[in-house]
Amino acid sequence: MSLALDPAAQDLLFREARTANTFTDEPVTDEQLQAIYDLVKFGPTAFNQTPLRITLVRSAEARERLVQHMAEGNQAKTATAPLVAILSADNEFHEELPTLFPAFPQAKDLFFSERPAREGAAALNAALQAAYFIIGVRAAGLAAGPMTGVDFEGVRKEFLDDDHTPLMVVNIGRPGEDAWYPRSPRLAYDEVVTTV
Ligand SMILES: Cc1cc2nc3c(=O)[nH]c(=O)nc-3n(C[C@H](O)[C@H](O)[C@H](O)COP(=O)(O)O)c2cc1C
Repeated sequence: MSLALDPAAQDLLFREARTANTFTDEPVTDEQLQAIYDLVKFGPTAFNQTPLRITLVRSAEARERLVQHMAEGNQAKTATAPLVAILSADNEFHEELPTLFPAFPQAKDLFFSERPAREGAAALNAALQAAYFIIGVRAAGLAAGPMTGVDFEGVRKEFLDDDHTPLMVVNIGRPGEDAWYPRSPRLAYDEVVTTV
């Protein structure tokens, strides 16, 4: 009774949600992706900087170019997932900051005039948004397969530019046959939480 979220939604988002390694061929539509984004865009980031950028890899030609940059164990599932997304951090997010954080438009020049500061902030906040994205995929009744077994420099050169840092590649779709490895244990509350 401690949680406000409906138990079925708790299962969908967390308890029964799994990292899929195989997928059916049911397509994932742009409408589904739009609905997912319109949910996860509300997840919080510092100064509302929202540095996550999403590259949907739809064409067979682009998929082939991506697969060659995946670790061997990730290649088959990346080749066959209905949809694959490259999640990256926009290191030039500060350009949007006066619009995104109108309460304090000076933040752009005060905190983010230097590229290293922007890269640090973008890495953290885009990673947070990547987590929101995975949960958003689950909210659409789909399964996500996030991967960092990736030649990121290769992906950056192939699909992005110097202003974008790739963070992970995510397979998206409905789980196929033998989609999961056995569920691994999680740390218990007492192992993780200290109170001071
Ligand atoms: C950021 C991130 C990177 C991951 N990279 C890979 C990967 O390269 N290859 C892979 O097979 N699984 C990868 N995984 C999957 C994890 O091993 C999996 O999510 C975790 O063991 C929990 O599995 P479960 O959701 O089935 O409980 C990654 C997961 C995350 C969140």
